[in-house]
Amino acid sequence: MDISKRFTELRQFLQKHQYLCDLEALSRYPLENHPYLSWSESIAKLSEEQKHQLENTYSPELVQEQSYKEFLIELNQLMHLPQEKFDEQTIDPILGRKIKAKKRHEIQIIRTQLHDKPIKHFIDIGSGAGHLSSLLLLNNKKCSTCIDMSAENQLIGKKKLKNDFPDILNRIEFKNQVIEKDFECDHSSDSALLGLHACGDLSVHLVQKFIHSDFSWLLSYGCCYHKLSADAVNLSQAAKKSPLKLTNHALTMATKSYKPISQKEYNFRKRVKHFRYSLHMLLKDQLQEEFTAVGSADASDYQGEFSNYCYKYKPELKQFFTQKQLENFLISKENQNSLSQLLDFGIIRSHMARLIELYIILDRALLLQEHGHKVDIKETFSKDISPRNISLMAERI
Ligand SMILES: C[S@@+](CC[C@H](N)C(=O)[O-])C[C@H]1O[C@@H](n2cnc3c(N)ncnc32)[C@H](O)[C@@H]1O
Repeated sequence: MDISKRFTELRQFLQKHQYLCDLEALSRYPLENHPYLSWSESIAKLSEEQKHQLENTYSPELVQEQSYKEFLIELNQLMHLPQEKFDEQTIDPILGRKIKAKKRHEIQIIRTQLHDKPIKHFIDIGSGAGHLSSLLLLNNKKCSTCIDMSAENQLIGKKKLKNDFPDILNRIEFKNQVIEKDFECDHSSDSALLGLHACGDLSVHLVQKFIHSDFSWLLSYGCCYHKLSADAVNLSQAAKKSPLKLTNHALTMATKSYKPISQKEYNFRKRVKHFRYSLHMLLKDQLQEEFTAVGSADASDYQGEFSNYCYKYKPELKQFFTQKQLENFLISKENQNSLSQLLDFGIIRSHMARLIELYIILDRALLLQEHGHKVDIKETFSKDISPRNISLMAERI
């Protein structure tokens, strides 16, 4: 893949559709008029099953409107990454104990990704309990330094190794440290820097560290993009020429992207949005209140009555509306129309999420390339199991 070419095409596409990225659907209310109206109308004709399918598959065949079809065709091309199917080496059952299936899947693939590299020492950044390092050190003489700010997570890993794998524990140094920009760590030229889902800025610190030291390999999987600082995006010279604006709404969407959801999850999320959006629209229309977070509700709140949900999270509404008035508002034609518009617009918006993630990762890749490193980008983990699955690997040459 030509990273530079893809980055430029991707940026152009994202900038053209910036409107979709900048704000979540609810913040666009009232949505009577917007640049994607004809696409929303195309979605409105679909059944709930088809809408669900469209969100999961980005399939152009599902929509009638020609410009929307073309958008989806281009989006699919831009989103496509080389995929490598790695043999998943079986994990030692004792060492694999208490490691969740998702983590096991990730570690098995990373072991295969790294197994032919002459790496003697890993620096595992944001290592948590050290599961990845433990398995990378199985049946060999390699060493690892596991750095994490959570002593609690590290203790879990240490306890597990102490009983069953003291030899591995002897070869891991657990360092309890908050990693910041320009952090120091002892290493040699046959060391590799690893970051498996190093959240937010941590992945950027990793990339910068690799550039400004003599590590031979870097392997990074990003996550939690909503935690990125303003100066941790648009890093490469290529990006700086025409930086993409990345709002918190856009970054939040990227963090959650790409995992196909089941019809049951889709239906539940719709129910959540019905309540959440309706409450906000009521507050805005009837009480001229701007949107504020109502706090995270319990799943059971969405199974009950809308009026109970409103009273629980906005008790002051009791002064203004009876339970019957709230229930009538929820099912009113006007509210149902506004809801449908927001939900359908939300589907169009959701198409952009993976591209935002890809923009962030390609920018990091370009920064590495600009410093003369060999870079490889792939989609590795199965997206159903672990959707933050873009592997960024760099090698010093
Ligand atoms: C998403 S978890 C990933 C853990 C592990 N790599 C894995 O895949 O199981 C991110 C980890 O990074 C750690 N972390 C986040 N920011 C950090 C920082 N600035 N310095 C050190 N550790 C940090 C957290 O404590 C957490 O254990």
